[in-house]
Formats: sequence, structure tokens, C-alpha cells
Amino acid sequence: MKKIVILISGGGSNMAAIVKAAKREAWADKYGARVAAVISNRADAKGLEFARAQDLDTSVLDHKAYPSREAFDAALAERIDAFEIPGQPVLVLLAGFMRILTSGFVNRYAGRLVNIHPSLLPAFAGLHTHQRAIDAGCKVAGATVHLVTPELDHGPILAQAVVPVLPGDTADTLAARVLTQEHLIYPRAVAEILKQ
Ligand code: GAR
Repeated sequence: MKKIVILISGGGSNMAAIVKAAKREAWADKYGARVAAVISNRADAKGLEFARAQDLDTSVLDHKAYPSREAFDAALAERIDAFEIPGQPVLVLLAGFMRILTSGFVNRYAGRLVNIHPSLLPAFAGLHTHQRAIDAGCKVAGATVHLVTPELDHGPILAQAVVPVLPGDTADTLAARVLTQEHLIYPRAVAEILKQ
């Protein structure tokens, strides 16, 4: 069984969408894959409650407890690799995981480390994507699922969704519109990877 490990920092709605899709679409039977674990860098991440209720293996790795980014990433890799079976590399999904990862970590999971970013990349890499899209006068916004490479928010694009930016939108109203699309494209993109 191919294992999927999902990293979160907050609400975990994308993680929940993936877990629900895996059940609904019987990924275990279809692709021999299952979500094995959810790891958060914050103990108060709301998404942990959903993951626990689903009987998923959950753990918290507080980045503040480590002296450097490298030390945190090494501990994170160790936690992820605990789910590895020889010959069956774990698929690692970043779902609202708000930590920049070292190139050492990214290279270790090359080709099997996926992220969702709330903008139409390559536009608006980084933070505050919705406010920046509004301030730039964009008529559309959206989200991107991409493979993670060492350069932040720049890896090969796997899927995108587009939504309109409406008159009177705030960062919050636009984020909510984009998020509903994230919940569709992220599970779909993961299923495409598992099919390969
Ligand atoms: C999502 O909008 C995701 O695209 C974004 O954080 C939100 C997490 O929501 N990710 C980033 O900004 C990554 N740089 P969720 O915790 O409910 O899935």
C-alpha cells in the first residue's frame, strides 16, 4: 500500500478534502494508496481534530523547538520516513503547511512532494496572494497544485483552477472562493499522480 503523508499548519481543509476523496473514490482499491499520517508544525492546528477523528496517525513537530531550519527539516524527514516501506516511497503533500523547506528536504522528496498555492502561479508566489491579486486589479484569481522544487512556489504545475475576482471582494471573500476550488483540484491532482 502506497502511503500518503500530509503536512498542515492550520485549518486543514485541503487535507480533509483529500482524506474524503480517498475514501469516496476508494483510492486503496483503485490505486493501492492510503492517507497514513498527518503532521502539523503547530499543536493548535484545527485540522488535527479532523485527522484524529478519522483515526489517522497524527503528530506535532513544533518548529520552534529546533535550533535551525535544517534541524527541523531533518526531524520532519525522519517522521515522514517512518512510514516508508522499502520500494514504496511515501507521497508527501503540503496542505497549508506554512514553513519554507530547505533544499535538502525538497531534494530528498523530489518528484513526490506536492504543494497547493492560493494563486495562479507563476503570479503571486509567497504570502498575501489574495490581497495582492485585488491590489493588482486582477479580474481572475485561483489556485495551483505543483511539484515542490527548491525555489519557493516555482515547481512544475500539475493543476490550476480559476475564479473571478468580483467587485467589492476582500482578501477573505476571495480566499473563500478560491478555497472551494482548491478542495476540488488538489484531490484530483493527487489521484492523477497515483494513477501513474
Ligand atoms: C490554502 O488556501 C492553501 O492554498 C494555502 O493556505 C490555505 C490552507 O488552508 N497555502 C499557502 O498559502 C501555502 N503558501 P487549509 O489549511 O484549510 O487547507
